[in-house]
Amino acid sequence: MTKQWWKEAVVYQIYPRSFKDSNGDGIGDINGIISKLDYLKELGIDVIWLSPVYQSPNDDNGYDISDYRGIMKEFGTMQDWERLLDEMHKRGFKLIMDLVVNHSSDEHAWFIESRKSKDNPYRDYYIWRDGKDGGEPNNWESCFSGSAWKYDKATDQYFLHLFSQKQPDLNWENPKLREEVYEMMKFWLDKGIDGFRMDVINFISKVDGLPDAKMPDGRKYAPGGQYFMNGPKIHDYLHEMQEKALADYNVMTVGEMPGVSVEEAKLYTAEDRKEVNMVFQFEHVDLDAGPDGKWDLRPMKMSALRDSFTKWQKGLEHEGWNSLYLNNHDQPRMVSRFGNDKEYRVESAKMLATFLHTLKGTPYIYQGEEIGMTNVRFDSIDDYEDIETLNMYRERVIENGEDHNKVMESIYVKGRDNARTPIQWDDNDHGGFTTGEPWLKVNSNYKEINAQQAMADPDSVFHYYRMLIGLRKENPIMVYGSYDVIMPDHDQIYAYIRKYEGRTMIVMLNFSGDTPLFEMPSELESNGELLISNYDVEGNKNIREVELRPYEARVYLMN
Ligand code: NOJ
Repeated sequence: MTKQWWKEAVVYQIYPRSFKDSNGDGIGDINGIISKLDYLKELGIDVIWLSPVYQSPNDDNGYDISDYRGIMKEFGTMQDWERLLDEMHKRGFKLIMDLVVNHSSDEHAWFIESRKSKDNPYRDYYIWRDGKDGGEPNNWESCFSGSAWKYDKATDQYFLHLFSQKQPDLNWENPKLREEVYEMMKFWLDKGIDGFRMDVINFISKVDGLPDAKMPDGRKYAPGGQYFMNGPKIHDYLHEMQEKALADYNVMTVGEMPGVSVEEAKLYTAEDRKEVNMVFQFEHVDLDAGPDGKWDLRPMKMSALRDSFTKWQKGLEHEGWNSLYLNNHDQPRMVSRFGNDKEYRVESAKMLATFLHTLKGTPYIYQGEEIGMTNVRFDSIDDYEDIETLNMYRERVIENGEDHNKVMESIYVKGRDNARTPIQWDDNDHGGFTTGEPWLKVNSNYKEINAQQAMADPDSVFHYYRMLIGLRKENPIMVYGSYDVIMPDHDQIYAYIRKYEGRTMIVMLNFSGDTPLFEMPSELESNGELLISNYDVEGNKNIREVELRPYEARVYLMN
């Protein structure tokens, strides 16, 4: 396994709309980000992934881009962005930008042209088809509810949109479109950025003929994932992108890939294949979904989480590379989902952090995670902003008469706005995020949970992250070590052993509010030096047996 800077890095994700507002319009912006770079320096991260800051009508908060080379007005200007890059580089941070090229906005100049006529030069930049039997060309369902096709009267055809109706899919079969994308990537690379996070990049190759998917019972449209995830030409496209856009730059790439398997991830990330450096896979964030998808709630079982992580840790042990995350702008807050955001909020946030930073892979911190921010419960659906949530609510409650309370419960657990509430900087109005009215309400717990409080308290989640990040830099075993589970059948304790260059590290994590007993397997050494723990632990003692406290985490380097 080769050593690479992006394997050793810790990445911090900024969702700009919710990070910090500098001008009182209630929307986070670039100058707001600049004002918080010293805070991130103190945290100790290496790379910043900036969610989209391009021009966009904001149907999906910037994931619907109308100009790939322009900055969103609410966020600032290109000069502001250039200053941001400069200020990041001055502090030693690298910047990776979001690359959203499975689809554009319907307000992008290409689409405005494309929809004009069937012989428009931009027609084939998108995926247009005739209707079938008086309806849509196939039965695929959009990821944001309803059909994945929208009828356009001007030319009497439908266009494909796997996300919202304002996010038409780009046609990667068209070499001209691909060239345009590569040129656009070079535009940003030449400005000096350090890489890309690629939005749903394994959706760009669709199966020929766009066949109907198998229709599940009682559904009007079918999840067509098997026909557009990891499609037939995906490896060719990524390889071509590497050769034509990325080869001349020493940058990092991470491909967001729903539905990717370990075997496929190996292909995507094997170094000699030159596709992407690492993937965001989804298996562990789909474990609490039932047969009807993410809103169909199931309990999150630690044993399932352990099995899934173990499969990925072992699968990519010798080739390929993975990213490590438990939340982002699309997923609920990790302390609410995998920990206990009430009685043991601080302990469980630290335990989960220990987990992420002691596995093989590149850890990602999502803004607010470092202060243990939690999910939110707004009383009214009107307080929600996320298009996925609102479309789902409309379809289920308003159109199909499902129970409002039941649907709200699923939004409280899974809705994307959980992670999008503004960052709680201090205990001033709106958590110090803005002096105006925030675009999305701040979580009402901002008086107790905020960055100012966290920085002042040496025992806070924030300072724990700082320590973990520091440890990872000093201990290559945390990055490159092998991984094996110990106590593989325990329901509450997740423990593993990592080995590297003659050293051994033991990680014990209690994923429960109980006090289970950790038992070191008899064949293993039991004298260790404590590296970090989220509770006070006396000295370096024999750890043959340890009664773990609620959500306790301990990491030992063995003698
Ligand atoms: C994945 C992004 O992370 C999500 O926020 C977005 O809605 C979809 N892709 C569509 O771009």
